[in-house]
Amino acid sequence: MLYTFSDILDKINEEVKNLKFEQKPYSLFEPIEYILEIGGKRVRPVLATMAYNLYKSDIEKSIPIALAIEIFHNFTLLHDDLMDKADKRRGKPTVHIKWNDNTAVLSGDAMLIESYREIAKSPSEHLPEILHLFSNTATEICCGQQLDMEFEKRMNVTEDEYIEMIRLKTAVLLGCSLKCGAIAAGASQKDADALYSFGINIGLAFQLMDDLLDVYGNPETFGKRIGGDILCNKKTYLQITTLKHHETSDEMHAWINKEEYNEEEKIRAVTQLYNKLNLKKLSEEMIESYYQKGINDLNQVQVDENRKAELKKLAENLLTRKS
Ligand code: IPE
Ligand code: IPE
Ligand code: MG
Ligand code: MG
Ligand code: MG
Repeated sequence: MLYTFSDILDKINEEVKNLKFEQKPYSLFEPIEYILEIGGKRVRPVLATMAYNLYKSDIEKSIPIALAIEIFHNFTLLHDDLMDKADKRRGKPTVHIKWNDNTAVLSGDAMLIESYREIAKSPSEHLPEILHLFSNTATEICCGQQLDMEFEKRMNVTEDEYIEMIRLKTAVLLGCSLKCGAIAAGASQKDADALYSFGINIGLAFQLMDDLLDVYGNPETFGKRIGGDILCNKKTYLQITTLKHHETSDEMHAWINKEEYNEEEKIRAVTQLYNKLNLKKLSEEMIESYYQKGINDLNQVQVDENRKAELKKLAENLLTRKS
């Protein structure tokens, strides 16, 4: 049986809602329930279960993987928001704002452990392979996050370095979701690898889009503060390109080096530099090209075309997302 995207999303949401954590001390577990309850698109767990469903109908068996990945993702958000000094996520105060920094660290750690508890429930014959991929992915995400932070202070980050950084911090988790789902269903190595590559390419498109929405998104739907990346001097494709062009680089450098400024003024001025170079459009073209690469990968997967339709639809939806 082939499930639709929305069937799987409903199932994942229900499973996330039914997760039970320890209750004592509640101060450690309440933030976990909070972050998992305030929403999120659930892209990664849906990808895991959809990849499983390409091969098998008993999608129940993919649920521990899906949950592990969603819990892991939410753990990274607790730490990421602390590192990025972000006050808002999913339209609500972030955990370190609602509680405090230590809570974001420790509740995050507890979530990382919970994610391993879930992944350990994967189908036993495939557990070693899944665990290996999951752990490698987790380490890669730390590497990506470290580079992301170091790049804030560096002015000569190249486009290739940026792509490698977002591959590590974001794309590998989408690839891992799909590949774990495929492995659990007993897919061939070739299919599992093609799905991983599909995940990497839509993951790169996903982070490029996240960086674009951080500047041009609607604060109501995006749920995070618009301009947050500009205030942190994040080396996004937008900022790297602005630093590279002679007509914008001096002003970009000046804003990056300014220690005291009005936040809204900086966001406005830097956005104008991006506008001057038409970077929204250039970024959208790059997103489209990674999406196309992803679709080519998906075309290599040896299952009936109609079975892949829902995955294609999901990838397409990510291109026009508002949150
Ligand atoms: C946010 O991920 C972190 C990034 C990798 C950009 P999502 O955009 O998937 O966040 P939620 O889970 O839907 O809130
Ligand atoms: C997040 O990148 C990547 C991880 C959480 C690992 P961002 O810092 O751009 O994500 P948001 O914008 O805060 O969701
Ligand atoms: Mg962030
Ligand atoms: Mg970040
Ligand atoms: Mg972002």
